[in-house]
Amino acid sequence: MSHDSQRIRALLARASLVGLAVGVAVSATSACLHGEAQGGDTATRHYDDKEAALARFEEPERDAWAMPKRVVELLGITPNMDIADIGAGSGYFTRRLATAAREGTTYAVDVDADFKHHVETHRDEWGTPNIVTRLAVYEHPLLPRESVELVFISNTYSFLQDRAAYFTAVYRALRRGGRLAVIDWRDDVTCPRSIGCPKPGDRVALATAITELEQVGFEVIEHHDFLSYQYFLILGRAVDRAPKPAPSDQP
Ligand SMILES: C[S@@+](CC[C@H](N)C(=O)[O-])C[C@H]1O[C@@H](n2cnc3c(N)ncnc32)[C@H](O)[C@@H]1O
Repeated sequence: MSHDSQRIRALLARASLVGLAVGVAVSATSACLHGEAQGGDTATRHYDDKEAALARFEEPERDAWAMPKRVVELLGITPNMDIADIGAGSGYFTRRLATAAREGTTYAVDVDADFKHHVETHRDEWGTPNIVTRLAVYEHPLLPRESVELVFISNTYSFLQDRAAYFTAVYRALRRGGRLAVIDWRDDVTCPRSIGCPKPGDRVALATAITELEQVGFEVIEHHDFLSYQYFLILGRAVDRAPKPAPSDQP
């Protein structure tokens, strides 16, 4: 068994304990409001009021600023792609990704069992039975090596604590030529807290995200700036993009 598989098994075994611990934390903070992520330690930020959180992820006004149609079009998804949506939440993007990749599998990866259940309950009515849910742990997406062509992560980057380790796992989950798409809150604009925009100090600046991801081995392929409150990056693995030596250069 590879070192990676052993680690994923160990993390899976711990997943039920993590779920239990988070459950305790959730009930201990039952006074929290409006579906806002709680927890001073970003490693275990969770939602106290799940219904309010789901409602906010699905607010009809969201389409105007999150522009999901344009985002998904720019991802160049082909019908048979396998995709992972990390921090899938209500499935707002998951179902759109799964519709574009209708012959592939789209994994809805989340640490929250209630959000997982929500996606499982709605995937057929969305017309996306190709969504497969994955209950992950905070420090690892539990995606097998080389299992997907695209990893998508929206408004979840700042939730991840040891991002070097986390995105190394993401890197390994990508097949050759695979891409990572990151959408997250800009720290240089004012955005309404009512739409879920974190306080400026809780946002990860674009330059920081790029530096962190480059250190893991990613390279920015596209940076789109049409979203009012968020940056949108598409990255590839630098190793896949390095120029191949010309035949005459080879010994
Ligand atoms: C702000 S919501 C974003 C939901 C969705 N991506 C969207 O754009 O509507 C953050 C999501 O990330 C999940 N989450 C938090 N920490 C996580 C982690 N370490 N791994 C995977 N998901 C995580 C939360 O449960 C929540 O569903």
